[in-house]
Amino acid sequence: MELIHTVAWMKQVASDALRRDLPLGLVPTMGALHAGHLSLVREAQRQCSPVVVSIFVNPKQFLPSEDFQRYPRTLETDRAALEKLGVDYLFAPAAQEIYPPGFRLSVNVEGLSERLDGRSRPGHFRGVATVVLKLFEIVQPRYAFFGRKDAQQARIIRQLTRDLELRTEIAVCPIVREPDGLALSSRNTYLSASERRAATVLYRSLDALRREIAAGERDVVHLAAGVRKMIEAEPGVAIEYAEIVDADTLEPAMALRKTCYLLLAARVGTTRMIDNALIEPAGDSIEVII
Ligand code: PAJ
Repeated sequence: MELIHTVAWMKQVASDALRRDLPLGLVPTMGALHAGHLSLVREAQRQCSPVVVSIFVNPKQFLPSEDFQRYPRTLETDRAALEKLGVDYLFAPAAQEIYPPGFRLSVNVEGLSERLDGRSRPGHFRGVATVVLKLFEIVQPRYAFFGRKDAQQARIIRQLTRDLELRTEIAVCPIVREPDGLALSSRNTYLSASERRAATVLYRSLDALRREIAAGERDVVHLAAGVRKMIEAEPGVAIEYAEIVDADTLEPAMALRKTCYLLLAARVGTTRMIDNALIEPAGDSIEVII
């Protein structure tokens, strides 16, 4: 595996792949890699060659009050894990490579960025869209891989590529979970032992939702309220939102006739966590994918 620190060198590798018409795949990450990230890498390797993994803790997507400074940085372990998988390139630029002095661009995907996570984290998705567009411009991937864990982010990136008619196709991969259902996240390392136990309520609430829908419940207001109630009942966990939304518009869904998400965010102690279920009509029944 080749470790690349500069934009110039990364561009060189990218233009070489482009010239040879190779299906280059990009997996953008902020590092502190876990099995969720690595599942994206494996999927990229199944579809693409070469595969580039980027590790960049993007300052622009953290609010001033957030955990940018203390976000885990584990480049050496990450590098070893990617090496073991046989990744071709690790792109790990310094902040001044991505944002040199005088950098002024800011990209906003309107209408999808203000609600849900965008409401509690104003400016967050602007930071995400800006860095992802810059990474796409540098790496010129034919495919880029994102996790459904961050469903709103994936929807926003897809809109970005559509509106700019970028060459990059977006693949959205399943959520990887711990055996007790907790979605893997770099931020799980912030949890104390008791918070870690309490955090499973997110998964349990989605599982309860799945069972209710399987039993025939279709009332979106009732279903979302059930999730909210279950999370609120967990000591040490504060719900931020739990909403059933149309998967395309991310606006509140009135019924389960089209593909929807139940998106949720909660604070466990001081750690903010998100999770979701995909709700998909399948003939006469409805499939809930957690
Ligand atoms: P990061 O949080 O490091 O996540 C990188 C990718 O891994 C995202 O697409 C995310 O959805 C995916 N991912 C995280 N946890 C997952 C899990 N448990 N199962 C499956 N996929 C999972 O998301 C970002 O970084 C940044 O916003 C980024 C897109 C890199 C832009 O800075």
